[in-house]
Amino acid sequence: MLAGALLAACGGSGDESFTPPKSGAAIYSTYCATCHGKQGQGFVGPALTDMALKYPNVADEVSIVTNGKGQMPAWVGRLTAKQIATVVDYTRTEFASDATVGPKVPTTP
Ligand code: HEC
Repeated sequence: MLAGALLAACGGSGDESFTPPKSGAAIYSTYCATCHGKQGQGFVGPALTDMALKYPNVADEVSIVTNGKGQMPAWVGRLTAKQIATVVDYTRTEFASDATVGPKVPTTP
């Protein structure tokens, strides 16, 4: 019963308007993974590992994502400033190999 109700609530009838993804993981997988890879390993776009090292100032990465760079489209107008900040934060933590941030991919010493 409960599961059915939840499914109905989440699945919708197909008529509902698109709900913009809010979490970093959801935004990333919806808009970024096609070019940067599910694990940020790179594909059409470069790997997004260690963005916090490359761009110590988070504003620089936010600016790239907002305004686009080279082959990457600008995301302003398609993502809100909040979504951009959230997904940038996600790339900086989720794909970091720096042990101080918390490695997601185990590294052998
Ligand atoms: C259509 C493919 C494509 C999509 C979709 C895309 N990117 Fe990119 N992205 C690129 C390419 C290509 C570059 C390299 C641009 C350059 O340096 O000329 C890039 C560069 C970047 C950089 C800078 C990387 C560096 O090493 O300087 C960041 C950060 C970034 N993208 C984040 C994102 C985020 C976050 C999203 C999702 C909101 C996203 N990208 C979606 C293609 C894409």
